[in-house]
Amino acid sequence: MIIDPTAPEAIAQVVARLKAGELVAIPTETVYGLAADATNPQAVEKIFLLKQRPFDHPLIVHIADLNELLDWARDVPEVAYQLAQAFWPGPLTLILPKAKSVCDRVTAGQDTVGIRMPAHPLALTILRALGRGLAAPSANPFMAVSPTTAAHVMQLFNSDLWVVDGGPTEVGLESTIIDCSGAAPVILRAGMITPEDIKRKTNLTIGFVEQASVKHAGQHRVHYAPNTPLRLFSPLDLDQALANHSAKQSLGLLIYRPRKQAYAFKKSICLSMDARHYAQKFYAALHELDACGCAEIWVEVPPQGEAWQAIHTRLIKAAAKFSE
Ligand code: TXA
Ligand code: MG
Repeated sequence: MIIDPTAPEAIAQVVARLKAGELVAIPTETVYGLAADATNPQAVEKIFLLKQRPFDHPLIVHIADLNELLDWARDVPEVAYQLAQAFWPGPLTLILPKAKSVCDRVTAGQDTVGIRMPAHPLALTILRALGRGLAAPSANPFMAVSPTTAAHVMQLFNSDLWVVDGGPTEVGLESTIIDCSGAAPVILRAGMITPEDIKRKTNLTIGFVEQASVKHAGQHRVHYAPNTPLRLFSPLDLDQALANHSAKQSLGLLIYRPRKQAYAFKKSICLSMDARHYAQKFYAALHELDACGCAEIWVEVPPQGEAWQAIHTRLIKAAAKFSE
């Protein structure tokens, strides 16, 4: 059920539902989240059941104020405060040693917890009214494409789940995750906050993690995948394939700059040469191409460069499902 947040009492009802241990999908600036009261293990468990997510995948706790950080984390290093001050509220998650009271359902039994302060005004309003943290993964079934509109959430779950409509999300990709629980901070999941942004705003040099582990953020080889097989093409390979392939009318196409051959496809979507604009529309484009009934989705690999890294990692994971 889509909830219009401007309707009288809508926010109060959403908060009452969360307090009662029910799930509500809420908008954040990155993607829609499937939220539960993070202090209620039974409520948190419902997230895993609805998403069909393995219980060993920890959740991110969302907070509305820096003062709440120590409710969830302990031994917070100075770098974490620097990062939080520079980027919160915003698309950045910090992994920190967990406070004693944080339940195992949230952290999947690990000694660390992921925390972020979302920038969406509705998320912040709900968090403040609730007065507790919200555990919220992206509001999609495990391994599916994340939702960037309330309608996507409805399509993905097809249930009586409440979905607070906050319009299309602004960032469009999940938050950058930085592990601050080890000797030196390291990026576990690329997002639209890049190492360059971090350097510019905090003077900290933080790189990407090298060692992949299933429990670590976004390290599953397959993820973010549509149901329709998705294939990646370098711009040159795409030109060749377009010249030779005769069955374009059965295919979907996702490109970042206009091409005249695109009209021959069943559906073609041209995003942008600008990484931020591309990211904003990326998941919506995948949802739309997936729903158009095409036999395959062909994707032109966007340019190299830090700004595109988060998009590249999602594309590689989306394609991995079909290259096993
Ligand atoms: O932008 C976002 O981060 C969105 C919105 C809703 O806030 N949330 C999101 O959550 O992307 P989710 O659950 O789809 O992805 C969170 C990732 C998972 O890969 C999880 O394994 C990892 O973060 N994670 C959470 N807690 C962790 C921890 N303590 N240590 C390592 N990884 C953690
Ligand atoms: Mg997710």
